[in-house]
Amino acid sequence: MATISSSISADFSGENGYAEIDWDNIGFSLTPTDYMYKMKCSKDDEFTVIEANLIPYGNIELSPAAGVLNYGQGLFEGMKVIRREDGKLVLFRPEENALRMKIGAERMCMPSPSVDQFIDAVKQTALANKRWIPPPGKGSLYIRPLLLGTGPILGLSPALEYTFLIYASPVRNYFKEGSAALNLYVEDQFDRASRGGSGGVKSITNYAPVLKPMTKAKDRGFSDVLYLDSVSGKYIEEVSSCNIFIVKDKIISTPTINGTILPGVTRKTIINIACDHGFKVEERQIAVEELLEADEVFCTGTAVVVVPVGSITYQGKRVEYHTTDTNSVNKKLLSTFVAIQNGQVEDIHGWLVEIN
Ligand code: COI
Repeated sequence: MATISSSISADFSGENGYAEIDWDNIGFSLTPTDYMYKMKCSKDDEFTVIEANLIPYGNIELSPAAGVLNYGQGLFEGMKVIRREDGKLVLFRPEENALRMKIGAERMCMPSPSVDQFIDAVKQTALANKRWIPPPGKGSLYIRPLLLGTGPILGLSPALEYTFLIYASPVRNYFKEGSAALNLYVEDQFDRASRGGSGGVKSITNYAPVLKPMTKAKDRGFSDVLYLDSVSGKYIEEVSSCNIFIVKDKIISTPTINGTILPGVTRKTIINIACDHGFKVEERQIAVEELLEADEVFCTGTAVVVVPVGSITYQGKRVEYHTTDTNSVNKKLLSTFVAIQNGQVEDIHGWLVEIN
């Protein structure tokens, strides 16, 4: 396991080492923690840092003309720190998030922190909020890095100043269903991403447009929405908050990363784990009709982890999947993923980064 060190060592733990909250009842809502990290930078080729430090968690001041407020120049990431039974605090593949932010920043004309700056800042934020990292098995500390165009700009152009901000919140299950199967609604009126757009990067502008179809679907009792490609409307792409996989005759398939699908870190990890288990994995176009024939469907994401799909509704037709089989492919992949994080299965790929 890689270990990284930081110039700031912080231990803000209370008497028993934990914040006083009901650790058995956390979902995916915001619990404000103690500290956040703020790095102010100017736009030039080198990403010049003006100032960087941990500060008490709280509101930030923004110019009304900030690029992010006016033109949506912003990116975010999502990562988790877990506290293991052996006392280790571990991050999972943080360099993947750092690199994804770099690629996104390039697309959005923003400068970005280096991989080392990113990981060091994430580590500092996690350690400063150590008492909010849930006890083993009770969730994780969700880390939310943001890169925002905070310089004022009136005409449409990239801002001249940027803020890299990281806050954290303890979380457990993303969906109100807990780890139970999801009921997805296939959206054929609203698109999530278009060819040549920003669907393949974690731009903040990808998320507000899904609120309407998602809210409508939730009001009708669905867990979330599955989007189709915007060109033909024939192929599945992703869910509002996660990637999607199907399993047919033990072959695992997921839509190809083609610019309109977010390259999820959990997606990539599950493909790696599936290959390690000897499964055939295909990244390809998946016609929506294939959902009708699938043996299993499941979703992956940092927030959602790996969650089975119990039903999919498309154009008034509902198809259901058996999700109680303990030998299902998705349960096998999830248990290996969790066992690697918990140190019960060897981390052969070097994915874990210990931070304490
Ligand atoms: C994550 O999985 O970390 C995400 O960023 C998805 C978000 C909608 C919660």
